[in-house]
Amino acid sequence: MLNNVKVAFSNDTKIFSENSKSLVANIKTGNCLFISDEIVEIYRRAEDENLSFEELFSCVEDANSKKLLIKVSEKLDSLKMWQHNENEILNMRKTKISFDITNNCNLRCKHCCISAGDNLRGKELSTNEIFNIIDRIMLFAPDNITISGGEPMVRNDFFEITEKIRSVYSSYLSLMTNGILIKDDQTAAYLADKYDSFSLSIDGYDETSCSAIRGKGVFDKVINAINLLKKYTDKISLSMVRTSDNSSDTQLFRKLCQSLDVYPVIRVFEPVGRGKEFYERVTVDREFDEHCINWQRVEYNFMSRKIYSYKPQIFSCQGAVSEFQIDQKGDVFPCPMFMNEEFKLFNILDITDPEEFISSKKYITSTGYYNFSKYLPENIPKCSKCTKQLMCFSCAAEIQKMIINGDLEKKCAEYSNYFDMYWRDYECI
Ligand SMILES: C[S@@+](CC[C@H](N)C(=O)[O-])C[C@H]1O[C@@H](n2cnc3c(N)ncnc32)[C@H](O)[C@@H]1O
Repeated sequence: MLNNVKVAFSNDTKIFSENSKSLVANIKTGNCLFISDEIVEIYRRAEDENLSFEELFSCVEDANSKKLLIKVSEKLDSLKMWQHNENEILNMRKTKISFDITNNCNLRCKHCCISAGDNLRGKELSTNEIFNIIDRIMLFAPDNITISGGEPMVRNDFFEITEKIRSVYSSYLSLMTNGILIKDDQTAAYLADKYDSFSLSIDGYDETSCSAIRGKGVFDKVINAINLLKKYTDKISLSMVRTSDNSSDTQLFRKLCQSLDVYPVIRVFEPVGRGKEFYERVTVDREFDEHCINWQRVEYNFMSRKIYSYKPQIFSCQGAVSEFQIDQKGDVFPCPMFMNEEFKLFNILDITDPEEFISSKKYITSTGYYNFSKYLPENIPKCSKCTKQLMCFSCAAEIQKMIINGDLEKKCAEYSNYFDMYWRDYECI
């Protein structure tokens, strides 16, 4: 089926070669494959000579070599590495928008990354302005929208906003809430009808642990909200943010989720917003944090007893590609971890021709995008020439955190040995 297709790698396919092996990785899909350098060289020559796959295959006389080349080419095709796959990727891509409809909140969680409730992010938008944003969000053709905040349900027009979204949008819609205002059957039934899934937060496993972050009496209210929602939906997750203070609580938190039959989400603590103050006060043990992340990676490998049998994780940040975060002023950012003025791509209410602006991706030329792109491995001086640059980190925020903390060198030294082994032992197709 590849026969008439020209041999050409997609622009998003990056190839890194070392010790006669090449890692072929696509930064849009996160797919990757190790193949031999010889095969990469054959493809490169075919590209230079503008050959189709049929012409390339016909040049190979040895039957086994031809069989292998066809197998590798088809495998790369299934992983969407070729230029002709680019449209398929565009069609496959899910655009995710997260929209914080308010910065107001009925709680004052100690760790809150957006200082919700303190109104630090400026004025709240009117119902009409929110409606206008919703119409403009549709220009991204999203497949997935998350409504969050602050606490989205504290807006008096929350139900009107929900109706507005559902009048223009029928795909996946998710609600991130602290659950405090889900107090009766009617509300739970309504929400389950309009939203496809729910992310609730509890930050503990009992009244004492939850109240340390979220306040007194919140635990029971969240459990009540979950029990009400469960009558109408099973798409519920519950989260806790892990810090050094509560890291030993994660097992008990998982047990709680198991008993409630909801999906557990453990978020890595981000020292921003009110969380920054909290971070200084509780002195989150970064060594522990790192130990935990490394341990997870290593454990993943050793558990399977085939140390390198899993597919390497490729850095394929979707920030400002297919993921956008919109705050309660209409400012658009690449992701929730980059919600500072310096990373602002544009304001969705300010642009005069939103259709043209969004479809032609004009935000890529903004200062905000430039500042964000400094945290992509290809732009980091230490990583840009490294063959393993796509294998170390999973997200730009992780890199930013390391640069700010001055940990990049140390991490690099740690990962380097690990990836050298990995590179050596991973079998080529
Ligand atoms: C900002 S809240 C907004 C939605 C809703 N009010 C709630 O409490 O779930 C969204 C999620 O971000 C998490 N979060 C808040 N501060 C954080 C921080 N400093 N680091 C990581 N996650 C954080 C919350 O625990 C919650 O799960």
